[in-house]
Order: sequence, then structure tokens, then C-alpha cells
Amino acid sequence: MAIDLEHCKDLDAADPLAEFRDRFEAGEEGAIYLDANSLGPLPADAPARLEATVREAWGRGRSRSWANPRWIGAPARIGAKLARLIGAEDDEVIVGDGTSVNLFKLLMAALALQPEGRRVILSERDNFPSDLHIAQGIVALRGHRYELKMVEQGDDILAAINQEVSVVTLTHASFRTGACHDLKAITHRAHQAGALVVWDISHSAGATEVDLNGAGVDFAVGCGYKYLGGGPGAPAFAFVRRDLQATASNPLTGWMSHADTMSFETDYRPADGMRRFLCGSPEVLALTVLEAALDVWEGIDPSLAFEKNRALTGLFIDLVEQELSSFGFTIITPKETDRRGGQVTIAHERGAELSEALIKAGVLCSFRPPNAMRFGFQPFCLRFTDLWEAVGRLRGVVEKA
Ligand SMILES: Cc1ncc(COP(=O)(O)O)c(C=O)c1O
Repeated sequence: MAIDLEHCKDLDAADPLAEFRDRFEAGEEGAIYLDANSLGPLPADAPARLEATVREAWGRGRSRSWANPRWIGAPARIGAKLARLIGAEDDEVIVGDGTSVNLFKLLMAALALQPEGRRVILSERDNFPSDLHIAQGIVALRGHRYELKMVEQGDDILAAINQEVSVVTLTHASFRTGACHDLKAITHRAHQAGALVVWDISHSAGATEVDLNGAGVDFAVGCGYKYLGGGPGAPAFAFVRRDLQATASNPLTGWMSHADTMSFETDYRPADGMRRFLCGSPEVLALTVLEAALDVWEGIDPSLAFEKNRALTGLFIDLVEQELSSFGFTIITPKETDRRGGQVTIAHERGAELSEALIKAGVLCSFRPPNAMRFGFQPFCLRFTDLWEAVGRLRGVVEKA
């Protein structure tokens, strides 16, 4: 049966998260925001919380505020708030630095735990470029003791994991296609072959179920500014499985990772637990915004949001098929619900031009070469009727093109 506006209205009426829309800034009048995979929307109370931190804690408190555990304890406290969204324990996640920096730390930590003879860092050519650049940098830094092997698109990653592999590092949900790897199966295969895994869950954290401990993951990193909504350049996060924390070492041995930072000891001693994976001072202002974003999740069952995202991405796919089948679009995101994250990608040979026209028509999406139009869905802000409207505008744009 064809989907119509009434059906979308019924879905909105039954949405248990409908009231959460007000917990975010509305954005521009009439605009539909489908770019949460680039930058999550602004939580409504973040500006006031940021202003309080700036005016009260910094403006009045000045350096005394460093004595307030809210500042120095922010990376671990906020990490614990994030943990339940990604299947981790409270003491397995810390926030701070960027994703690329955390990937460097954890890749180095994983390699250092492995026997010298294992020379391969295994990834895939279509991984996010920064992740590959970090791995390439490590290969050079370590005097080419390691080799970065990249599985080609369409090749079987499981088959490429052998006894030569030291660490497998992949992004769970692809930034380009929105397709998710089987995190559990790949982690299991890596462990069978004696390899460790470092997952980048930037495009799945806050968008879809990730069960790091359920899958036995060793290390993971991810962005704070995408679905998690921590704002432009938000601190990233790092996860280290609890039983690895005592033996894994952080190559960026800054003072915040010292066992006793305030002793100002000359010699380095690593802190216990996840604090060992910090480096320098916490980004207090940015962390204030990230915390506001994570507090939106407080008291709700995260699976409600993930379920809604599956329904949104599913409806979008169905609407594209129904409304746009004769206009040369190819849906490259898997249709199976458990194989996609929070994003749907549709390819079109004139994708760059169409994305630009669609943004002008008030539907914010993003484009990645050569032909990928990306639509990222944020479950708290979007209505099902927004998708009806967005696909209608896309039809209007392509009809005119
Ligand atoms: C999958 C993935 N990993 C890493 C990054 C880079 O993150 P950062 O800028 O925090 O280093 C991005 C940025 O979009 C990304 O999509």
C-alpha cells in the first residue's frame, strides 16, 4: 500500500519521543534537518549551561573552579553518561581530545599489547580518511615495522583476518554509505586469530545500538559532535575494555593521565583506569555542551531512540523508492534494518548539484564525492511528517533539474 501523509501523521501521533523535539533549538523556520551525521542539533539548554560555566564558574570563580570536581572530573563523569548508549560500563569510557587523537592513542596501545611478529594493521580502503591517515602515521612513526593493509570494497573482511594481523581497525557505520559492519562477528574473528580490535563508532553512537561489551570489543573511539550533539568540534570519546585498562598504555603521556597529577612529579606514572587515556586539561567549555546533550538521554530507554531511528531511516528509504524511482537515484544504504546506522545515502550522478539545490529548498543534507547524498536522522528532533515533506522537496528539486 502506498505511503501517504496521513500514514506519516499517524506515526507522529504514536511517537513516544515526540515531546523531546522541544529539548532542541528549532533551527531555521521551515528547514528540515537531515544532517545529524555531520553535526547534531543544538540542545535547547546548552547555551544557558555554557553561559553559567563561562560567567559563574570562570568569570566569578576564576582559577578556584579548577578545585571544583565538576571541572576536573568532567571527562570521567560525562564518559559514564555516554557509556550506557554504547554498551559499556561507566568506568570504561572517557571523553576528551578529538576522535583522530583518541584513535592514535588506542591504536598505539593495542599494537603495544601484541607480539612483535604481527606486522599488519588491517582496515578498509573506504574507512574514514582520518582513520587511515592516523594508521599511516603510526606505520611511519614506527619505522615501517607495521604495514597498513586495506580491504577493498566488496571484499570479505573476515577472510582477511589472519595470524599476521595485529590490530583490526574499522568504522562501524560507514560515513559514506551508512552501512554497518557486523561488529560482533568481526571482533570475534579477530580474537580467534589473536588480533585486537579498535572500532570507530562515530556514526553509530547515539544513532543505533552498539553493544561494545556484548561483542567483546577491546578498544573504541567516536565523535561527540555527530548524533551525540556535543556541538562543533566537541570532545570525542575513548573506550577501553575494563580488563585491558591496567596493561594498555597511552602513548600521549600528558599530566592528566598521571597517577597523581597534582603532585607535579618529574617521573611519569600512569593513572589507573580510564584516566590513563587522557592527555592534557579537560576542555571545560566544550564539555559543558556535550554534557547538556547527553543529559537529554537521562531517564529514557536508549532503545526507544534507536528504534525510532530505524523507523525514520526505513520510512525515508520507502518514500525514496515510492516517490523517486524514475529519477535515477540508487539507495546505497542496506535495506535490512540491522545493517544500517542513522544515515541513508542515495547516489545520483548529479548528486552534488541536487544536494546544493535541496539545501536551498530547506532540506539540510550533505554530499560526499563522487555521488553520495547523505541524510542523517536525529531521533529526538524529527517527525515522520518531516520526511514526507523532505522527499516531496527532493522530488520538486529533481523535477526542475
Ligand atoms: C568516522 C569518523 N572518524 C573520525 C572522524 C574525525 O574526527 P575528529 O575530527 O574528531 O578527529 C570523523 C569526522 O567526521 C568521522 O566521520
